[in-house]
Amino acid sequence: MKKYITIWGAFLLLLLSCTKENIVDKSDQFVDELLSKMTLEEKIGQMNQYTSYWEMTGPAPKNSSAQKRLEDIKNGRVGSMLNVYGAKATYEAQKLAVENSRLGIPLIFGYDVIHGYKTMAPIPLGEACAWDTEISKLASRLAAKEATAAGLHWTFAPMMDVGSDARWGRVMEGCGEDPYLASLLSVARIQGFEGDDLSKENTIAACAKHFAGYAYVEAGKEYNTVDIGTYTLHNMVLPPFKAVAKNGVSTFMNSFNLINGTPATANPYLQRNLLKDKWGFDGYVVSDWGSIKEIAYHGAAEDLKQAAQLAINAGSDMDMESNAYLPYLKELVEEGKVKESVIEDAARRILKVKYKLGLFENPYKYSNPKREKEVINSKESRDMARKIARHSMVLLKNNEQLLPISKQVKSIAIIGPLAKDKNTPLGSWRAQAVKNSAVSLLEGIKNTVSSNTKINYAKGCDLAIGTRDFRAELNFSNTINKREIDKAVNAAKKSDVVILALGEDCFQTGEGRSQTDIQLKGTQMELFKKISKLNKKIIVVLMNGRPIAIPEIAQKADAILETWFAGSEAGNAIADILFGDFNPSGKLTMSFPRNVGQCPIYYNHMNTGRPNSSGNVFWSHYTDAPNTPLYPFGYGLSYTNFTYGTVKADKESYTKKESVHLNLILSNTGKFTGEETVQVYIQDPAATYARPVKELKAFQKVKLASKEEKRITFELNKKDFGYYSPEGEFLFESGTYYIYVGCNSRDVQKIAVSFID
Ligand code: NOJ
Repeated sequence: MKKYITIWGAFLLLLLSCTKENIVDKSDQFVDELLSKMTLEEKIGQMNQYTSYWEMTGPAPKNSSAQKRLEDIKNGRVGSMLNVYGAKATYEAQKLAVENSRLGIPLIFGYDVIHGYKTMAPIPLGEACAWDTEISKLASRLAAKEATAAGLHWTFAPMMDVGSDARWGRVMEGCGEDPYLASLLSVARIQGFEGDDLSKENTIAACAKHFAGYAYVEAGKEYNTVDIGTYTLHNMVLPPFKAVAKNGVSTFMNSFNLINGTPATANPYLQRNLLKDKWGFDGYVVSDWGSIKEIAYHGAAEDLKQAAQLAINAGSDMDMESNAYLPYLKELVEEGKVKESVIEDAARRILKVKYKLGLFENPYKYSNPKREKEVINSKESRDMARKIARHSMVLLKNNEQLLPISKQVKSIAIIGPLAKDKNTPLGSWRAQAVKNSAVSLLEGIKNTVSSNTKINYAKGCDLAIGTRDFRAELNFSNTINKREIDKAVNAAKKSDVVILALGEDCFQTGEGRSQTDIQLKGTQMELFKKISKLNKKIIVVLMNGRPIAIPEIAQKADAILETWFAGSEAGNAIADILFGDFNPSGKLTMSFPRNVGQCPIYYNHMNTGRPNSSGNVFWSHYTDAPNTPLYPFGYGLSYTNFTYGTVKADKESYTKKESVHLNLILSNTGKFTGEETVQVYIQDPAATYARPVKELKAFQKVKLASKEEKRITFELNKKDFGYYSPEGEFLFESGTYYIYVGCNSRDVQKIAVSFID
C-alpha cells in the first residue's frame, strides 16, 4: 500500500502542474521518472502479458501453473492480463499488482471485444456494409461503454486486414476487400473506442490488428504462409494501418503469418522502420497469442530465446502468451544481443498508454460494479445494437417489390434451421454475450406483425449438430430429415409468404474457421429446392459471416436479404426491414463469388494481358464460370429507386495541384424515403506500375425522400490519384485517368480526365 501511496503522490503533484497543453509532456515526465526507478526486470515485467483462467482463445498454457502467474503478478513481472473481465475480477487482479509489487504499477486488462461486450452489434463485416463512419463509431462506442464498465482498459479491435478470400473465416472481423473503405472505417472504429480522451471511464484503448498481411494466407487457409509482393503490401495491406497510426491509435497487434519469409512478429521493417519510425506511432505493439514462440515453429529461430531476441529487436513490445520475454530478455541484454535502450523504449510505450488511460491516477477506476450494473445490456445498448444492425443489412434481390411485406399479411411461413436460432446472430467473437440471448428471426417477426397474422414455423432441417463453441470443430447434419422437410412444405403451402432463414452457424466463421467450400452446409439446399418448387413467393434471409456461394438461391428466390450475424437485436432489426419500418441501405464490402473456385475474387483486381474474349480459349478466364462475381463489391438494393444523372467534371485537364470536382444529380424516383451510397472509383489505365481496373476513392451516403433530388459533389486530388511503388514511394503521375461513378462497382458511368505536369 505504501508504494501505491508514493506513486500516486508523485502523480498528484504532477497533475497539479498540468494544463491541457502540456499534458503530453507531463506524461513523458511521469513515465521517465518512473522508468528511472525501475530495474531491468521490472521493465521486462511490463512487457509480459498473461491470460487468466478465463481465457477464450489460443491453446491453454501448458507449463506455467496458475500459482507461478500469481507470484509473477505480485512481483511486478506482469504488465498486462488478457481475458480477465468483470468489475469484481479486474478489481481483485489489479489489487494483486498494485498492492504487492515494489512500484505498484497497475496492470492493463485486454480482451477481445470485437463487436460488443454483452450486447452484440453485428459482426464487423456486416457493420462495414453500412458504409457509414457514424455507424462504425457507434458500434465501437457501444462496445467501449459496456467493456469499460466491466473493468476493461483495452480491446483487441479493430481488425483491419483487407481481405477478399471468402474461404478465410476471419473475413467476418474486418471491413472487406477495399483498403480505402477499411481505412475510413477503421479510423472511425478507433474514434468510437478511444474517444478524444482515453482517461474517461467509458473509453477504451484500441488495437490495430493484425500487422500485417494475415488476410493473404495462401488458399484462405488459417495461419498459412503469406507471400505477397511489396506492391500489394503497400497498396492493399498497409493503408488502413498507416491511417490509424497517423491518427494516434494506442496499440497495434502483429500477426501470426510469415510475410515474404519473415514472421510478421520478427519483422523489423514493418514494426520499426515503417510503423514506429516512418509513421511515428508512439503506442506499443503486442504480439499475437504465442506468435513469438511461433517464430521458431515457422523455422525462423532456433529456439524460444532466439525468437524473443528477434521479436523485441523487430519492435514487438509486449509478449502475449509466448512466455518468451520474461525468461530470456535479461539474459539477452547481458549477452549484448538486445540493447537495454530497446527494453526501455518498449516499457516506456506501455507505461504511456497506462498513463493515458488514467491508471496511475486510479488503477481501479474502470472496475465499478455500479456502472457495470447500469450500463451493460441496458435499453440504450439494445437500441444502439438494433440501429447498427438495420444499417448493416444488404438487400440482394427484390423481384416485383415483394418486400416490404405488409404487417397485415394473413399468414407467413417461417422456415429454416436459423429461423429460431438465438445463438447464431451473436457471431463467434462474442465476449460475454449470454448464449442464446439474441432476438431470433421468429421472435422479431412475432414482435412486428399484426396479432391476426398466422405464423407457421418449421425448422426444415438442422445445421450444426453437437458441440457448438468457440474452440471445437463443428459437425453438420448431413442426412435429410424427411419429417422436418414435410412439416416445412406444409407450413409453406398454407402460407401467403415464405421466409426461409438459411446460412452459416455462428461458429462457422472466425478464427480457425477456414473452409474449402462456401456453399450452404448440411441439407439446407435440399430444403430450399423443395420449398422453391411450391410456386410460393420466397424470401431468403441469409445469416452468415463470409460471402457464400448461392447461385441457385439467387436465381430462384424472389427476394434475398443478407443480414450477416446481426447481433443481440438481430430478429427485431431484420423484421424492421422485412416489414418496411426501415428501408435497407447496406452495400456489400466483399464480392460474392459464384463458386469457391473464384476465390479470392475482388473488384479492385489488375487487368491481365488478355482481359477480353478473343473468340477462342486464349484469354484470362475460367471455362466453367464467368469472371464476374454473383454480386459485386458495393452492391445493395433499396425499396425505392435511385436515378443517376450524368456525371460531369469541372474540366477535362488539370495541373497536378488542382482538384477534380465532380457533380451529378441523384433522384429518388421510387415510392419510399431511402438512402443511397454514391460511389466513385478511379482507374489509371497507363501507369508506371500497372494499376487495378477500379479503385474506390470516394463515396457519399445520401438520404432522399420520394421524388426528391439532390446535386451530389465530390472533390478528388493528388492523394486519390496517387499510389505506392513496390518500394513504398508515393507516386502521382500525369496522364489520363478514368473516373467511374455509380451505385456499385459494376454499374457505373465512365468519364475521363487528365493531369499535366
Ligand atoms: C488470437 C487472435 O489472432 C487475435 O486476434 C486475438 O486478439 C488474440 N488471439 C487474443 O485472444
